[in-house]
Parts: sequence; structure tokens; C-alpha cells
Amino acid sequence: MAWSSHLMVWLSLLLFYYVPLGLGAPHKWPVGGSTRFYDFKVQTKRISKLCKTKDIIAINGMYPGPVVYAQEDDRVIVKVANETPYNATIHWHGVRQRLTCWSDGPAYLTQCPIQAGQTFTYEFTLVQQKGTLLWHAHVSWLRGTVHGAIVIYPKTGVPYPFPDPYEEHILILGEYWYEDLLKLEKRILASGGGAPPADAYTINGHPGPLYKCSENDVYEIAVIPGKTYLLRIINAGLNMEFFFSIANHKLTIVEADGEYTKAFTVEQLMITPGQTINVLVEANQPIAKYTMAIGPYMSAQNVPFQNISAMAHFQYSGASLTSLALPAPLPVFNDSLAVKNGMDGLKSLDATNLPIEIDADLFFTIGLNVEQCHSLTPNASCQGPNGGVFAASMNNVTFVRPSISLLQAYYNSLHGHYTDDFPEVPLKAYDFVNGAPNSIPNDTQSLNGTRVRVLEYGARVQLILQDTGTVSTENHPIHLHGYSFYVVGYGTGNYDPTTAEFNLVDPPYMNTIGVPVGGWAAIRFIADNPGVWFMHCHLEIHTSWGLSMAFIVKNGEGPLETLPHPPADLPRC
Ligand code: C2O
Repeated sequence: MAWSSHLMVWLSLLLFYYVPLGLGAPHKWPVGGSTRFYDFKVQTKRISKLCKTKDIIAINGMYPGPVVYAQEDDRVIVKVANETPYNATIHWHGVRQRLTCWSDGPAYLTQCPIQAGQTFTYEFTLVQQKGTLLWHAHVSWLRGTVHGAIVIYPKTGVPYPFPDPYEEHILILGEYWYEDLLKLEKRILASGGGAPPADAYTINGHPGPLYKCSENDVYEIAVIPGKTYLLRIINAGLNMEFFFSIANHKLTIVEADGEYTKAFTVEQLMITPGQTINVLVEANQPIAKYTMAIGPYMSAQNVPFQNISAMAHFQYSGASLTSLALPAPLPVFNDSLAVKNGMDGLKSLDATNLPIEIDADLFFTIGLNVEQCHSLTPNASCQGPNGGVFAASMNNVTFVRPSISLLQAYYNSLHGHYTDDFPEVPLKAYDFVNGAPNSIPNDTQSLNGTRVRVLEYGARVQLILQDTGTVSTENHPIHLHGYSFYVVGYGTGNYDPTTAEFNLVDPPYMNTIGVPVGGWAAIRFIADNPGVWFMHCHLEIHTSWGLSMAFIVKNGEGPLETLPHPPADLPRC
């Protein structure tokens, strides 16, 4: 080994500093560094919750999993060893993966799963990224328990664009089922019917006192009167959008999806799976114990959901430990106006890369389908509405998962794994919201296919996402891999270019957008990161049903615009 490479190894070891793994780590600036190493062991872990014991899959025996701490522009290297008998991958949700599409993580999109006993090392750089993001498994329903926070601090010496909080805490919102999640997914898909509600909601893994056997299974933040706290809120739930509030305290939103926003103060907020929201909370109320609560936002018709709130405590020092916690009011489960009011307040602090001219003008419908029953055992396998089978689609194409990763198929020009004819507009135009086909299952079927949309390198893209009324309208949290996008507009009803109002001044820059129920959202981004990028509804059941597609972004010119070779340890299918 040459001297210089010795030096490199030593430097990187010196720069590897101790990182606190707890969720309530005091606010401490990391010292400057360049590369952060993490070891993730995918393991089976036995836990007792809600009066029962079960085995879950978790990273390093932690649920929620370890926090990945880094600084803007750091390189992150995570060695993932799969010690379970199940397939695994990890996706770094919101990490833009500049020229590192191979490390993005969605199974059968950018890699084959890491099989039992195998390892894969993810490597990426947090180019111009700071704030809160999340990582989660991206194969089957594993992410229900395999998830955790990514916290990226600004560069050394660069302050937050808001008053420095006294402390910061991570709040990971989740859903919990008694049933094994892989079995649950299989069972639902085999039935053709809908997903049963979660048995509980959780905050950092704790359901809180409203659930049975959970009086002491409560997450708590201890606060000092007069201080200001930064809460990094992450929705790691599988299928539920959540309202969040703290009794008697206001929440000042300062960041969404890892991008600063103009400060915006609310009584409660709505957060979809995949979104992250940072809020400042001032402990300016009388000394007491206050509730932090999450409850369902369910915008679809006839979908059963868990209606018990998960609760945690915001406990002032000096308050009696045994006193009752003051209740936190939440909007009713279908309060879409509260959701709209929250969206209206989200504005970028500065929207520098917003495309004004557009090269690729796309329009995708999003929604549910019911397919006709073709089973010989319809009672068992066609439990969807009117004896049909649930599906979901974009532009009425239900995404069919390929048997090898699309990125490998594309990179190696392997034919027969996908077609590049994902439609840029719906194949049929109709009144998407109010005139949608609804004679279930006769006219509610979709086309099946592994179809992609190819984008030229550097294309300035506008995409209208339009909810449809087939089966039910619903707020769908659409997530794009590899990019953040500007949410330049949204509204209810059908998108109408002649009346739609766009914000081209300070739209929020997000990676997951809750498209309004029975409405539309317009997003813009510049396709300057080559690779295969999955786009899908972040309600896991909808992804399972095919509410997804993929973009292929071509290489540009020269090494800085070209996807490098795959890593040598890329898993095989
Ligand atoms: Cu957070 Cu494709 O996922």
C-alpha cells in the first residue's frame, strides 16, 4: 500500500467520530468530517407490545433503527449485512443520490434484494443536502419495522436559518401490527381485498396510554420551561397519513422534506408517509405534562382505519410525573381543509433551481382500480369490491415488478424486462374526478406493464399528478426517487391549465407530495441525475397494487453527467 493510501485510511478513521444513537440526543454540532461509516445488521428481534410478543425485523436490534448522522456534503458508507432469512434492501428516502443510483435501494428497480446471509455496501454523498430525511427497507412490507432517521447538519459554522434550539428530538411516527408484516402483505395480495387497519399507531415505537398494556409504553420528551425545541417529525407509517399536535403548544414549521421553509406557525400539521417536517416548539406554557398526539387523516371512502391516537408526553421539568397529561386536539379524520391550510403555508426559503421554461410536459393520473376476477377460488381471492381484485395505477397502467432490477436491465441493455412507452398523458381523457369509470369491475380495469418514461439529461420537467374518482378519490402521497421537486401548484377537482394558479416564486421543494383528495398537484424538476428513478404512492398497499412507474434519465456528457459502473458487490437476483 502506498503512503498516500495509508494516509487516506488513517484520515478516514480519524474523521469517524462517535455518533449518539438515541432519538433524543441533545443538540450538539458534529465536528467537521468527510466520511461517515455505519454498520447495519438486518436481524430478527423479539419484542413485547400491546400485550403480545412477536418477532420483528429490525436493524442492529433497534426499533426504530439507528440514526444516520452526517453533515452537508458528507460521504456516507453503510454496510448492510442481512442476517435474516428474508430479502432486504435499504432506501435512503430523500437522498438525491447524485450519480449513485446503484445505492438508491428500491428492490427490482435499482438492485436485486440482499439475500439471506449476504451484504451490500451503500455509498452516496449528501450533495447540498441538509435536514431530516429517513431511511427504510424497500422490499415487501419490511419498512414497517425497518426504518430510521437521517439527520444532516449544515456545514461547520453555518447556522440554521432560525433561532438555535436548546435541544432537538426525533419523532418517528409509525404503525404496528400483531401479524408478521411479510405474511400480512402476502395474505392481503392473495385475497384481492383491502388492507386491514394497523393494530396501533406509534411514536418512536411507543403506542401510548390509550392502547392496552401500554400505560407505560409512552415516549416522553423532558422539557425545560422557557426553552425552544426542534422536533424532527418523520412519518414512517406504511399506510396512514397522520395529523400531529401538542396540547396548548404551537408548532413553527421551519423545514419540510429536508429543505428549509419560511417559518410558518400552526396548531397541528398533517404528514404523509415518507415526509419529514421539522418544527420549533417553545415551552412557554404553565408547568405541566402535555400530550403529543397523532391521529389518522383518511380521505378515502369506505377504508377501515385505526381511530385510536398514539400519544407521547411533552413533560415540563417540575411537573408531577403522575399528573394527567393535558389532551392534544386533532382535526377529525377527514378534515381536508386542515390539510389544505397546512399546504398553503409551505414556502421555500429560497427556490434557486426552479425551472420556468418546460421541456417535458407530463400529466399522470393516480388512483385505484378493480380488476375482474379470474380466479377459480373467487371467495378466497377476489375479495375486492363487487367480487373483483384491487389494483392501482398511474395513467391507468399498473406497474408490474420485473424479475431483475430495471437499472441493471437498462445499464446492460438487456431486452424484455421493460418497455419505454409509459404514456406522457392518459390514454383516455375524461372527467377524472367526477366522471371516472365506476361500474366495478366492468370498466375499472387497468393495463399491466413494466413501463418507463425516458427523460433526456437536463430536461426541465413539469408533471401534473391528477387524482381520479375510480373506487374512491384519496390523498395520495407521491414520492419521486433521486430528486426533490418544486410543488408549484395544487388544487381540488380536475387540473385546468387556464385557471390553475402557480407559485413560481417560493414553492416548497419536496420529495413526497400529498396530492389533494379529488384534486391535482403540479411539480417541477430538472432531470439532471442519470439512472432509473422509481415514483410511487408512499402508501405501501398502493405500491403493492401497482401505483408506481419509473423514469429513466439518460446520461449527459462527460463523467459528471454519466452514471458510473455498478459496485462490485451489487446483489444478484
Ligand atoms: Cu420512501 Cu420508494 O420510498
